[in-house]
Amino acid sequence: MATADNESMTSQVNRVRHVLAVASGKGGVGKSLVSAMAAVELARRGLKVGIMDADITGPSIPRLFGLTVRPESSMVGILPPETATGIKIISMNLFLDNSGQPVIWRGPLLTSAIKQFWTDVAWGDLDVLIVDLPPGTADVPLTAFQSLPVDGILMVTTPQELAGMIVEKAAGLAKQMHKPVLGIVENMAMVTCPHCGEVFELFGPSHAEELADRIGAPVLARLPIDPTVAALADIGHVEDVKMAAFAPVTEALAEYVATASLAAVILAPSCPSCSGNSGDC
Ligand SMILES: Nc1ncnc2c1ncn2[C@@H]1O[C@H](COP(=O)(O)OP(=O)(O)OP(=O)(O)O)[C@@H](O)[C@H]1O
Ligand SMILES: [Mg+2]
Repeated sequence: MATADNESMTSQVNRVRHVLAVASGKGGVGKSLVSAMAAVELARRGLKVGIMDADITGPSIPRLFGLTVRPESSMVGILPPETATGIKIISMNLFLDNSGQPVIWRGPLLTSAIKQFWTDVAWGDLDVLIVDLPPGTADVPLTAFQSLPVDGILMVTTPQELAGMIVEKAAGLAKQMHKPVLGIVENMAMVTCPHCGEVFELFGPSHAEELADRIGAPVLARLPIDPTVAALADIGHVEDVKMAAFAPVTEALAEYVATASLAAVILAPSCPSCSGNSGDC
């Protein structure tokens, strides 16, 4: 992967106000879809949004957006390609010659890729950088919490109690790293029969409120399994997705971005107006 000379180059152009991570205990619960939908909805509200696909070995963000553009290098760093609606994206898949090629890397390489996605990418001016994490509590989520200024976490789970128990471990990691969990998204909570309209809890009854009590974070939404969403995601048209049940998640994130203090500001050290560290200019 091409890199900029060092972090000081990108720090001259990067101003990222908030870094929000999307985490889960178990794989396949919908983290990447939730990351993508959150980015799309915040961009629809006029915010400047980027997504860092921190799932190096199983990246799925470019596929959701139908993005295949290889990131280019510039004097100030790696330029993240933009989606149709202007969301900036960095993912290991964008650097591969063949998107089906496996990334067979051990922990140290994975963690160094995450660090470079932060230090060597010219993200520019962003209101929010959403970090789509791999599941669990292994090297990559740990590195992300340690080396990125993550200031809020969305936990994604499904109604299976097992998934809930595992997400509690992921929430425990967040707590140990002093990263606040902004809320829980219970995905795949129900499905509507296309023939009779009856709503089924396909994976059993919800455990979201119990989990919320245990980890001390609110349930922001219970999302249905929606075949239209799955189909749009599959063909790279996640920017066309509209899911009414997702609205409270967007609301909570937009409110957080508007009101939370700037926990993740990177400024040029030589800014003449504020000496490089006030975040006000
Ligand atoms: N609410 C939903 N309705 C329909 N399809 C969904 C929904 N949530 C997720 N999916 C689909 O389920 C699959 C798994 O979702 P996704 O890739 O977002 O999970 P993940 O947690 O990121 O997985 P991994 O742990 O492998 O990174 C995808 O094909 C996605 O489009
Ligand atoms: Mg994923």
